[in-house]
Formats: sequence, structure tokens, C-alpha cells
Amino acid sequence: MKAFVYLGPGKKALEERPKPDITAPTDAIVKITKTTICGTDLHILKGDVPTCQPGRILGHEGVGVIEKIGAAVTTFKPGDRVLISCITACGKCAYCRKGMYSHCTTGGWILGNSIDGCQAEYVRIPHAETSLYPIPDGADEEALVMLSDILPTGFECGVLNGKVAPGSVVAIVGSGPIGLAALLTAQFYSPAEIIMIDLDDNRLEVAKRFGATATVNSGDGNAVEAVMKLTGGRGVDTAIEAVGIPATFELCEQIVAPGATIANIGVHGTKVALHLERLWDRNITITTRLVDTVSTPMLLNILRSHKIDPKLLITHRFKLSHILDAYETFGHAADTRALKVIIEA
Ligand SMILES: NC(=O)c1ccc[n+]([C@@H]2O[C@H](COP(=O)([O-])OP(=O)(O)OC[C@H]3O[C@@H](n4cnc5c(N)ncnc54)[C@H](O)[C@@H]3O)[C@@H](O)[C@H]2O)c1
Ligand SMILES: [Zn+2]
Ligand SMILES: [Zn+2]
Repeated sequence: MKAFVYLGPGKKALEERPKPDITAPTDAIVKITKTTICGTDLHILKGDVPTCQPGRILGHEGVGVIEKIGAAVTTFKPGDRVLISCITACGKCAYCRKGMYSHCTTGGWILGNSIDGCQAEYVRIPHAETSLYPIPDGADEEALVMLSDILPTGFECGVLNGKVAPGSVVAIVGSGPIGLAALLTAQFYSPAEIIMIDLDDNRLEVAKRFGATATVNSGDGNAVEAVMKLTGGRGVDTAIEAVGIPATFELCEQIVAPGATIANIGVHGTKVALHLERLWDRNITITTRLVDTVSTPMLLNILRSHKIDPKLLITHRFKLSHILDAYETFGHAADTRALKVIIEA
């Protein structure tokens, strides 16, 4: 089968690989129909994610059809259409029983990280019963690809952890797919203001269409002043970091009002300064989270009722044989205006 492989920092290739097979009775083999690329895949290619070793097939998002099941899988059968969660969960370990699937002792974020992932024709899914979701009849498969990772991530790590509340003031730093997913799902709670911050005017335009009440291009170095002006000098109640670099986390530290929450989503590859000399008396909370995907069933309901349209995030489509072009397009979003790219296997 064709598979997209990480070969070490800056190196990648579309290779011919053997089709995966069942290795545990709880596995399923899924034939991928549609997958996509995540900002985290770009972090891996930069060498930011040491758990992902050269030779790994990347990808942790997608939908497909069950090809084969292990002897212990009872809730799915070959031919079933499924949504793949970016988080693998056994459903039984202490972390899973707490709803913290991201730290499942035999799962968590392993797909396209410590085991081969979805940017291929087939993928092996461990703990299939608790890591796959049946696709409801009539559901739009492209929209569902946004539910593997970005919508639960924006919602759980950003909106829930950030305690977005009715009438509150929210800033989201980073208007990429994750920041935009946080923007879409923050609106479930009717905050008074959602300020989107990015360097890319095109993405800020998209954010306006998605419901941002104000946008700030931080390229001129005056984002703090701009946010303070927009909030009457107070700062924001929730600052969501959706980039993953020191500058944007430190920006969050500078724009929070007393009592605020900084909800980090970004995957960070380098250390970040925590300015306690300024923050110690601000009564703030800082949260970090690897998405648990506990909100996936709720988000499936939201999609069914058309409360939000995640398809708006899709800008480009490629065949798997052209995945290198897809990476090129996704990796140069400022020029290509890419948000999410759909890859058809
Ligand atoms: N915590 C989790 O479970 C989880 C899950 C998925 C993704 N992530 C992480 O979320 C982050 C965002 O993902 P994405 O797919 O949206 O990535 P992305 O790279 O597409 O988007 C990042 C955005 O940040 C903007 N940006 C870059 N530098 C900036 C700066 N200095 N100031 C303001 N904006 C800046 C870019 O223009 C871009 O629009 C990544 O770090 C990704 O790895 C975390
Ligand atoms: Zn991801
Ligand atoms: Zn578990």
C-alpha cells in the first residue's frame, strides 16, 4: 500500500509499505477513505516530537471502512463506515475510567506517533471498539474528518479548559484549523467577545466569517496594546494558545485579566518563560491538555443538527498519491490560503 512516511527532521516520502494486519484480538484494520494533515504533523516533520521516530507512517485523523476485525471486536463488522479518533482508548485502564483517554496506558495519542497512522491506504486501529465511532447514516464524511482531532481539541483543550462562559471575553492566539475550531465551539457558550490573533490576514478574514468579534494581526508587535484597547484596559477572561511557540504563549500571559484562564493547546518543542514576577497576584489559571476526545459523541450530535458546519474549514483536496503536494500546500498556508486539506485514499 501507499503510505506517507516521516524519515527524520525535514525528511519525508510517499513509500510502498506492507498492508497492516491484526496483531491483537481488539484490533481492527480500516481502509482509509479520507484523511488530512494536522499542524502536529508539521511539528513532527520539524523534529519537535521525539516520540515519533523516523520510519513512522504519519496521520491521526480520518474516516474509512472496516476491512477486518480481531476476534474480540463485537460492535463493528467488516464493511462498517467509521470515524477514527486521534486518541486510542482501551476504555478500561485507570485513566480511561476517569475519561482521560489521552493518557490511556496502552493507547493515548499513538496513531501516527508511536504506531503507524492514517496517511496510508490502510491503518491498524488498536482497541477498535473504544477508538472508532460508527458513522451515522447520511453524515458528510468530509465534515466528519474534522471530528477526529481538531473540533474535540479546540473544544476540550481550548473552550472547556478555558472556561469560556456566557458574556465572557475570549482571545484565541492562532487562527489555524485548531484556533478556528476553538472559535466555532466557543460560540456554544455565547461569550461576549472573541478576539482572534494571527499573523496571517487571510486566516483572520476567515475568523471574522466564523464569528470572531475582532481580529488582531500581531505581526507589528503591538498585539498586547491592541487587545488591551479592545477590552477597555482589562484584558481577557480566557486566552487560548493555539500555535505552539514561546511568543504566543507569552502573549497569552500578557493579555489576561485578573481571574483569567490561559488554556494552552499548542504542541511546544521549546521551553517557554513563565512570568510569575508579573502573574503571581493575578489569580490566573494555566491549563494544558492533550485532547481526550471525550466530546466526540456530543460533537457528532452537533454535526447532525447542523449547529456548526466544519466543512467550512476544508480548502483543498488531494489524492493520496499527491500527498507531498498536500503537505506543500498545508505547510505554506500563508501563500496557499490552506486550512484543512482532504486527502482521498
Ligand atoms: N493539545 C492537543 O491535543 C493538540 C491537538 C492537535 C493540535 N495541537 C496543536 O495545536 C496547534 C495549532 O494547530 P493547527 O493545526 O491550527 O496549526 P497551524 O500551524 O495550521 O496554525 C497555527 C497558526 O498560528 C499562526 N501563527 C504562527 N506564529 C504566530 C505568531 N507569532 N503570532 C500569532 N499567530 C501565529 C499561523 O499563522 C497559523 O495560522 C499546533 O501546535 C498543534 O500541534 C494540539
Ligand atoms: Zn492533530
Ligand atoms: Zn485506557
